[in-house]
Amino acid sequence: MLDDERALARRRFCTALVVAPAVVAWPGPGKAAEVREPMNTGTSTSSGNGPMLSRPIGRTAERLPVIGMGSSNTFDVGVAPVERAPLVDVLRELIAAGGSVIDTSPMYGRSEGVLGDLIEELALRPKLWIATKVWTRGREAGEQQIAASMHELGVSRLDLLQVHNLLDWQAHLPTLRALREAGKVKYLGITHYRADAHADLERVLSTEKFDFVQFNYSLAEREAEQRLLPFCRDHGISVLVNRPFADGAMFERVREKSLPPIAKDLGIASWGQYFLKWIVGHPAVTCVIPATSKAKHMLDNGRAGFGHIPDARQREAMARAW
Ligand SMILES: NC(=O)c1ccc[n+]([C@@H]2O[C@H](COP(=O)([O-])OP(=O)(O)OC[C@H]3O[C@@H](n4cnc5c(N)ncnc54)[C@H](OP(=O)(O)O)[C@@H]3O)[C@@H](O)[C@H]2O)c1
Repeated sequence: MLDDERALARRRFCTALVVAPAVVAWPGPGKAAEVREPMNTGTSTSSGNGPMLSRPIGRTAERLPVIGMGSSNTFDVGVAPVERAPLVDVLRELIAAGGSVIDTSPMYGRSEGVLGDLIEELALRPKLWIATKVWTRGREAGEQQIAASMHELGVSRLDLLQVHNLLDWQAHLPTLRALREAGKVKYLGITHYRADAHADLERVLSTEKFDFVQFNYSLAEREAEQRLLPFCRDHGISVLVNRPFADGAMFERVREKSLPPIAKDLGIASWGQYFLKWIVGHPAVTCVIPATSKAKHMLDNGRAGFGHIPDARQREAMARAW
């Protein structure tokens, strides 16, 4: 399973604003999470109109902008300026849009180190919310890997530490908790990328306390809305969504297709925005982490964090129309 993901990632690498008030609330046993209405702070150049929409982390007062960024493949590059310059622009667009969340992993080749270099070069640490993962077997190996990740990223503290694909999660849990106790990690999480692992994620979340769970959810992979998303909503667990474009495959499907009329009603100007807004429209989603190697795509993705958020009826219309 792990090898599948790596192989998929390598194969791909080798072949390679309208701002309107929006408040979405849902009922649940905890506090209703809402999309905060944009306020005009003049800080966002991407939209030109106030900050990106945000959602609370669980039942805390801390909020995350709804569009972040993944780094699988895209940041696995060498030291040559020609390889790194486009990624500097990607990071600048993330920040310009008002985004802050970056997801990475020791599984992603050189990505942690590249991110660490660029974050230092651009002095971005205070503006970022950094999530990485532990992806190995055994407690000691996990401790060493986490220390190496923090070194590569150049951080003394992580915002989120996740167990990648649930790999040996029982072995890592005491380490994660100890790091949180020591103030080196703020939130703990688990991840997976396949629908056939959603039941396992739910089982683990039912038995142990994690703040975050990360999994696949998109118009092409809707399984999470059956059980996992409602479960997270009911238990105050924050959700990071990976594979929002099914690793880019969704763009192939719409290559020859114009945006449907509903896109205009929602202020959507591209298929990327269409796919992301549909995900953000699910009220249990905290943040989506699309990956890109291109600044123009980061700009596009960031725009999905502004303006109208589709409600349940509009989301179904979007699902029929793509
Ligand atoms: N098990 C796990 O924990 C797990 C598994 C999978 C993913 N993840 C995380 O989730 C992140 C996202 O998932 P993913 O990398 O699998 O794939 P994804 O975000 O679904 O798709 C990435 C692809 O979409 C393209 N793209 C991005 N924005 C675009 C836009 N606006 N217009 C057109 N094309 C666009 C990118 O190409 P360009 O470079 O040309 O823009 C890239 O080929 C990962 O990077 C990783 O951080 C975690």
